[in-house]
Amino acid sequence: MPNPLAGQAASMRFLQSYWQRSPAVIRGTDITADPALAAALAPDALLRLAAREDVESRLVVRRGGRYRLEHGPLAAGTIPGPRARQWTVLVQGVDLHVDAAAALRARFRFVVDVRLDDVMVSLAADGGGVGPHVDAYDVFLVQISGRRRWRLAPPGPVTLEPDQPLRLLENFEPTVECELGPGDMLYLPPDWAHDGVGVGQCVTASVGFRAPSTRELRMSWLQDQVDGLMDAQEAGEPDEPFRDALSVKEFTHWRDHPGSLSPGLLDQMIETLERWRPSRVEMADFVGRMLTDPKPGTPFEPPSRRTLDRARQDWVTAGLRLDRRTRMAHHGSTLFINGDSFDADGDALALLARLADERTLSPAHTRKLLEDPDVEAILLDWAAQGWLCACAGL
Ligand code: SIN
Ligand code: CO
Repeated sequence: MPNPLAGQAASMRFLQSYWQRSPAVIRGTDITADPALAAALAPDALLRLAAREDVESRLVVRRGGRYRLEHGPLAAGTIPGPRARQWTVLVQGVDLHVDAAAALRARFRFVVDVRLDDVMVSLAADGGGVGPHVDAYDVFLVQISGRRRWRLAPPGPVTLEPDQPLRLLENFEPTVECELGPGDMLYLPPDWAHDGVGVGQCVTASVGFRAPSTRELRMSWLQDQVDGLMDAQEAGEPDEPFRDALSVKEFTHWRDHPGSLSPGLLDQMIETLERWRPSRVEMADFVGRMLTDPKPGTPFEPPSRRTLDRARQDWVTAGLRLDRRTRMAHHGSTLFINGDSFDADGDALALLARLADERTLSPAHTRKLLEDPDVEAILLDWAAQGWLCACAGL
């Protein structure tokens, strides 16, 4: 089994054989060798995160076949004691809050950033889990500490248990079982049913990937079109009413069939809709903005006035780095960042594309980039929103 974290050749073999095709158990990765990650994802550190207002968390407790779900913030008193069984706390978007989790996410950059979603981390007591379910996501379930038993079933028709606070499968018939220990990980393509249960207390990190569907794409595209039309309306841009075809043939049709769709009006409306063909450039712009859109409520932290005032100086001496929450991508001459897009050319384009690929820029490259006053203004705007900062203090 190729370990996709063990270099370019291995990740290529993994992608070719398993990605979006088949589950895979990868044993003995070096993920747990990172002491910063082990400390950041220790049970007490996770419970501190789950207690925070700005962190999304859930508590799931099972009693017999019934589940209870509580949304965070989870005060210490709401978590069952250390000897209680069958509970789990799930913390969403840990990579948005914790550098070591963002570094874990970065190890999966053999897949493009726009597919990456977030790192969710769960702490489970013995027998704890969220029950059998399916996700519309690719996911690597990385065992950070303790042991967890997984049961899996291939994609198939889904029926859900009635009256449960979670989407639980009623018809779960596992065909594969495995137990993971620290450093092991399980890869699951979308729609594979799975149920993971703590064997004693354990911590599992889920590195999840966005798998947008055709329907989702079309719905977001139409919503984007509606937003654009509303903006144009608000900006007072002129609109064109349909005018009737002024012909005797049309007027005769009206007189004889006042209950019909007016043929002239119908033709004009169909032609207008047929002409409404966005170009590939417009569609690529939409796709880039959609794929780099952060999740609603992503907690960006705008810097202090003082940090912003000396930002330019800090950048030229230390270089630039994208904030761990920033989603950035490039395509042709367009750059996308956190749901926005803009065009660039020449050195600025090459350097900003490099920033998207490497997520940092050296001081020399940063100085070159800042030679263009328009780009400087854009970078300062990003900095003011907390999207990028100086490399110092990494
Ligand atoms: C968990 O960590 O308990 C749930 C992860 C998953 O099944 O997606
Ligand atoms: Co799942």
